[in-house]
Amino acid sequence: VILSLKVTDYHVTCSVVSRYAVTTVESSVWNQLPIIKEAAFEVDLPSSAFISNFTIGKVYVAQVKERAAARKIYDAAKKQGKTAGLREIEKFRVAVSVPSGARMSFLLTYEELLPRRLGRYELSLGLRLGQLVQNLTLDVSITERTGISFIKVFPLKTSRLLGRKEALTVWNSTCARIHYSPTLQQQSSVSAKGLNADFIVQYDVDLRDLMGDVQVYDGYFVHYFAPRGLPVVPKDVIFVIDVSGSMIGTKIKQTKQAMNTILGDLREGDHFNIITFSDKVHTWKKGRTVRATRQNVRDAKEFIRRIIAEGWTNINAALLSAAQLVNPPSSGRLSSHRVPLVIFLTDGEATIGITSGDTILTNAKKSLGSASLFGLAFGDDADFLLLKRLALDNRGVARMVYEDADAALQLKGFYDEVASPLLSDIQLSYLDDQAFDITRSLFPNYFQGSELVVTGKVKPGVKDFKVSMSATDSKQRVKLENDVLTSHVEGNGSTDSLSCSGDLEGISSFVHRLWAYFTIKELLLAKLNASDPATQRLLAEKATNLSLKYNFVTPVTSLVVVKPDADEAAQTPTTAKPTAAATTASTVTTAKVSASRKSSPSSNPRYECIFKNICY
Ligand SMILES: *[C@@H]1O[C@H](CO)[C@@H](O)[C@H](O)[C@H]1NC(C)=O
Ligand SMILES: *[C@@H]1O[C@H](CO)[C@@H](O)[C@H](O)[C@H]1NC(C)=O
Ligand SMILES: *[C@@H]1O[C@H](CO)[C@@H](O)[C@H](O)[C@H]1NC(C)=O
Ligand SMILES: *[C@@H]1O[C@H](CO)[C@@H](O)[C@H](O)[C@H]1NC(C)=O
Ligand SMILES: *[C@@H]1O[C@H](CO)[C@@H](O)[C@H](O)[C@H]1NC(C)=O
Ligand SMILES: *[C@@H]1O[C@H](CO)[C@@H](O)[C@H](O)[C@H]1NC(C)=O
Repeated sequence: VILSLKVTDYHVTCSVVSRYAVTTVESSVWNQLPIIKEAAFEVDLPSSAFISNFTIGKVYVAQVKERAAARKIYDAAKKQGKTAGLREIEKFRVAVSVPSGARMSFLLTYEELLPRRLGRYELSLGLRLGQLVQNLTLDVSITERTGISFIKVFPLKTSRLLGRKEALTVWNSTCARIHYSPTLQQQSSVSAKGLNADFIVQYDVDLRDLMGDVQVYDGYFVHYFAPRGLPVVPKDVIFVIDVSGSMIGTKIKQTKQAMNTILGDLREGDHFNIITFSDKVHTWKKGRTVRATRQNVRDAKEFIRRIIAEGWTNINAALLSAAQLVNPPSSGRLSSHRVPLVIFLTDGEATIGITSGDTILTNAKKSLGSASLFGLAFGDDADFLLLKRLALDNRGVARMVYEDADAALQLKGFYDEVASPLLSDIQLSYLDDQAFDITRSLFPNYFQGSELVVTGKVKPGVKDFKVSMSATDSKQRVKLENDVLTSHVEGNGSTDSLSCSGDLEGISSFVHRLWAYFTIKELLLAKLNASDPATQRLLAEKATNLSLKYNFVTPVTSLVVVKPDADEAAQTPTTAKPTAAATTASTVTTAKVSASRKSSPSSNPRYECIFKNICY
């Protein structure tokens, strides 16, 4: 029997202001055993989140340092049961030895921008405790100044299928609070081994202004653009499906199941075609896309039903065939108002034909033209990096589909996100003498239920912030211009019913941090998309500088646990030392706390790296 240390307190606190969520997880353990014992602190966090603070006890405060040895402090745990919702989850894990009778506490803070998908924002908070906890609380506050249109709370989601809805919420038009604190009895009625679930909150906001919502605080702005009620533009969609040998079994079955539903959901005005590929490429209807008439959909379903998986994976040939369908040589494209989309699903790497990633990228870019490519990497063996780069190059995005019982639902969910194009080639513009250091403002598509976000800095003294937008809708190029009434808060001003708590400081700093968060994400994406090493280095350096400034743990920085000098340490009762967890159960990837070259003990004598083996 492995006895684990007793978790006496577990508190999750999350504050969302205008989709920007800051979550703190605090856990206290007590070593009730007569021996020294390792306490592990594990948190599942969304992979889009950046850690911004980590503290162990009173002794060790983690600092963010430039990444030196490229060590991962936390790794993706793409294992079954760890993939709640459609979001990628990563596991953060740190272990510390705790002497008998001693207590130890951990505090982790992470930040993320909640993306809008399918008409809602989803906040997922892990309550994976594995034991009953005496003092367990979860508190969420959500502040949305344009108004909350609905909110749903699903406590204790154990699988992707949402559980019973419970009304734990107090909310008015702009502010919602959720408090959850199950007693020991309530916890044990769920499971004698304690909670092992996710706490999910879904909500959406009102956004009546076609131009969206612009907020300016303390020299930073954020613009949320998500017009409602526009007509859906018909699409030309090509489904490209990997039917190589590795798809045999569950994966091909789930793909067929998903395709069956997806085909049934096509609209009459849509055109479509299907390509299957292994060594060879097979196109359902030669040379063109066909209208989604009832008969064509029926025929397509039959075609899907007959698919047999076997052979190798010729990604290059499949992409070129798809390109020919969206850009046929005798182009009818010019006159069509349909939005060209390629949905590309693979579970492997290129194994036959052209297999060099760079050549595949170049070929795809040359041939796909204005089509958007959406890559779906099915399972851990898929070349997700190649799909990400393909999507970046070709106006799309890439996603993981986890090998799990609900893979068909994941596929369908992703398709739904891109099934209803509303606008394309959206350019959001700001005046040069008002705004600078702006994140991406040109977007290939705006899909129903999503949201485009731009953030930047505002020059001092700007009163009327001007925003303009141009885009192509179902018929033509449209232009809009607006003076946005900005709610300036320059450290002093009316609270304007902005915050649940009336905490003005929190409100104004969120845009600032959101800008940093977003800019770092973009720099990292641009680095992935860049081909020459000098550009990549410069982008990495910029991302590193910003990450360090805002204390964000990102792919270019590391978390370093440092020890205060002896005087301070002496005042604290514990003698525990964090240790890098070496091995854990096979399903859990281990977090290593790494130290960087830049923070070598000699450069800052007040601190010392506690992991001698990985300090330089
Ligand atoms: C991190 O959390 C600790 C403990 O709550 C706090 O003292 C410290 O100021 C925080 N650091 C940052 C950078 O927020
Ligand atoms: C539970 O934890 C909170 C926050 O640390 C604390 O204020 C409260 O007193 C604790 N309650 C019990 C019963 O221990
Ligand atoms: C990636 O780079 C290509 C050019 O190589 C460019 O066309 C494309 O827009 C870039 N994508 C992003 C998201 O920056
Ligand atoms: C806010 O501004 C007013 C005058 O504009 C000033 O009197 C007041 O002290 C300021 N308050 C704060 C908290 O800065
Ligand atoms: C919403 O509730 C919060 C407190 O829960 C309050 O501060 C705020 O003024 C309320 N807003 C409106 C519009 O009623
Ligand atoms: C990053 O920061 C370093 C040190 O402050 C500075 O020398 C360098 O120019 C910065 N790099 C970029 C790209 O901003």
